[in-house]
Amino acid sequence: MILTFALSLIIYCIILNFLFSITLDSFIQQNRFNRLMKDSREIGQLYFNLLDQHISSDEFARNIIERDNLAVINSRILIYNEYRQIILDTKQKAPLQNNMILTRDIEKCFNDSKQTCSTFINDTNRVEYYYYTVPFIRQGQVKGAIVYHGTYQGYAPAANMIIVLIWATAFLFCGALSLLYIVLSKKIVNPLLDMNKTTRQIAAGDFSVRVPANSTDELKELSDSINYMASQLEDTEDARRRFLENVSHELRSPITVIRSMLQVIIEKKVSSDKQVYYTEMILNEVLRMSQLINDLMDLTHIQSSDFKLEYERVDIAELLRRSIAKFESIFTEKKIVMRITFDEYFAAYIRGDELRLVQIFDNLIKNAASYTPETGDILVESSEDGKWVSVTISNSGEGISPEDLPYIFERFYKANKARNSEGVGLGLAITKQLIILHGGTIEVESTNGVSCFKVAFPAEI
Ligand SMILES: Nc1ncnc2c1ncn2[C@@H]1O[C@H](COP(=O)(O)OP(=O)(O)O)[C@@H](O)[C@H]1O
Ligand SMILES: [Mg+2]
Repeated sequence: MILTFALSLIIYCIILNFLFSITLDSFIQQNRFNRLMKDSREIGQLYFNLLDQHISSDEFARNIIERDNLAVINSRILIYNEYRQIILDTKQKAPLQNNMILTRDIEKCFNDSKQTCSTFINDTNRVEYYYYTVPFIRQGQVKGAIVYHGTYQGYAPAANMIIVLIWATAFLFCGALSLLYIVLSKKIVNPLLDMNKTTRQIAAGDFSVRVPANSTDELKELSDSINYMASQLEDTEDARRRFLENVSHELRSPITVIRSMLQVIIEKKVSSDKQVYYTEMILNEVLRMSQLINDLMDLTHIQSSDFKLEYERVDIAELLRRSIAKFESIFTEKKIVMRITFDEYFAAYIRGDELRLVQIFDNLIKNAASYTPETGDILVESSEDGKWVSVTISNSGEGISPEDLPYIFERFYKANKARNSEGVGLGLAITKQLIILHGGTIEVESTNGVSCFKVAFPAEI
């Protein structure tokens, strides 16, 4: 780019110089000519004064020599009388260039009463000379003539100076442009190239790359956005990998169990009543696997963009009573004390998808039933303040450790103590997702061995 520009600048300079020298030449000639015409009129006047003896020939000569000294460089003035004799030569000693032309011009001037102008190039020094001849006319007769003789060379240094100036400006401009280009490359072009490279690498699947931090203020926002996008993609990719690892892990363990049990049965290493026990274990593992697959499909469905809730008016208190009833047998079996703080007339309405709300409370109450030890107790509270319907489910037990608390709503997360529990760690992830879709919130607290899940939904009056 810069090269093209520099090249065009040089071509432009060459053209400019060419045009300049042409214009300068014609300007100099025109200027010289005008000047000489004016001078010759004045000198003509002096010449007639001399003829009429108003001034002496010394005075005349001095006047002309003065004019010559003041006038343009390299000039020479010759004055002819009416007999075509030279009566004054300002540079007597110097030789006259090309006498033939001078004689011819003088002839022409006297014969035709016309001014003439001749230029010629000297063969030896290749310098261009001129002769301007102007007649002094009185009453129609040529009484004398003036000849200017010289070269235009005196203008050359000035002209050369201008040419040098043109080139110097061009080079200065080129230099400034290169400097600007270097600064711009450093500030804008290079960071943009970096960003381009990084986004290509990201597009090719390498999410670990980042735009180097050499951007200028103007581009910093853009590079920050690219880096943010890359880190988001990296997180997503990590989550995807963790998810696949978890799924594979959760599927591998039941399959291992099933395989070894079947092996034992096939090899007939156990008595027939033990066989029933093993078969039941296999059934349990199969049920666990199908639960895992159902939960996974459910979670994927809930998280998809086309998932929609079927809204209706739902009484949360009634749903809680039904959920608790479902797990009654477990409470009895584990001798768990279940307390409900609201009476049978209490109702708290929200707008929601009844089937999904049932799923939410079933999950929470089932967890409470599972993680409450024998003879433990569970407390279910509900209230409504006109804006929110709140439900709190607390249970005694070992509680959830502070390290586990922030993660228990994540997919496949099981608190340490529950590593070998029957669940797969998807229940709370599904529950939280469904609550959020209903515009609600869920929080968990665990103090002194009491785990407490607080849920709230926008109330419908
Ligand atoms: N009521 C509760 N009391 C104690 N710990 C709980 C309770 N509910 C959930 N947890 C802990 O949170 C983890 C995640 O729960 P969840 O997503 O339902 O998975 P799962 O029940 O399948 O293990 C459980 O493994 C358990 O450690
Ligand atoms: Mg669970």
